[in-house]
Amino acid sequence: MYQETVLNTQHYTDSLFSFSTTRPEAFRFRSGEFIMLGLKDEETGKPLLRAYSIASAAWEEELSFFSIKVPNGPLTSRLQNITAGDQIILSKKPTGTLVLDALTPAKTLYLVSTGTGIAPFASLVRDPDLYERFERIVLTHSCRTVAELDYGKALVQDLYSNEFLGELAQQQLIHYTSTTREPSQRNGRITDLIESGQVFADLGLPPLSPENDRVMICGSKAMLNDTKALCEAAGMVEGSLSKPGDFVIERAFVD
Ligand code: A2P
Repeated sequence: MYQETVLNTQHYTDSLFSFSTTRPEAFRFRSGEFIMLGLKDEETGKPLLRAYSIASAAWEEELSFFSIKVPNGPLTSRLQNITAGDQIILSKKPTGTLVLDALTPAKTLYLVSTGTGIAPFASLVRDPDLYERFERIVLTHSCRTVAELDYGKALVQDLYSNEFLGELAQQQLIHYTSTTREPSQRNGRITDLIESGQVFADLGLPPLSPENDRVMICGSKAMLNDTKALCEAAGMVEGSLSKPGDFVIERAFVD
């Protein structure tokens, strides 16, 4: 295990926050991977760990993470109180299926997320390789409320003005947001917006197809199942690192 120092924390809503930490010099990861992260149990001294996507880019000096605050959650009820200078524990081996090598080539890549499911895509959209492999990337983020979209909005704004990636991102990356429990510019679950064809009408793109599109999915168990069903209904096949395919799912965060 690595023991790293918290550098920064930011709170978005009562239930969402992000934090950054120092990065071990030898630590390498692929954009989209996750690690086990946590704190030492105050009584037993044993590590209390959960799977966390790495939200920072592979080229950044720091590591960053995006977390929910689970009411009475054993880890996040403590983790939400961390401040600069505190220590956290990280596992040494990153892993995960939301990686570019698990997909075969195509024109458009949909990164479909709900809630903190945007975290692995925060890393991927800052990977220059993404812009070489796909002509167009559609980052969808659906949350209950408008305030829960703030993390993703700041991420994309920051990327559009990035010195090195800004121009590519402006040309190739589309940020598509919706809310489900508060009115906003676009309302409804992403699954319903896909099923009704609204997403494709809004973007002027053809419906999902294995010929043109690839999909990465990150969200709750029900969201993964429903989005997977839509991909399969479009004739897409699930991929993995050993057998790249049309869509991939991260199951590490669901019970
Ligand atoms: P909804 O408000 O209709 O439940 P959560 O915080 O529960 O993980 O939800 C995050 C977002 O994911 C919410 O906008 C929620 O919509 C949506 N969501 C929940 N279940 C599904 C599902 N099965 N398919 C698509 N979106 C879902």
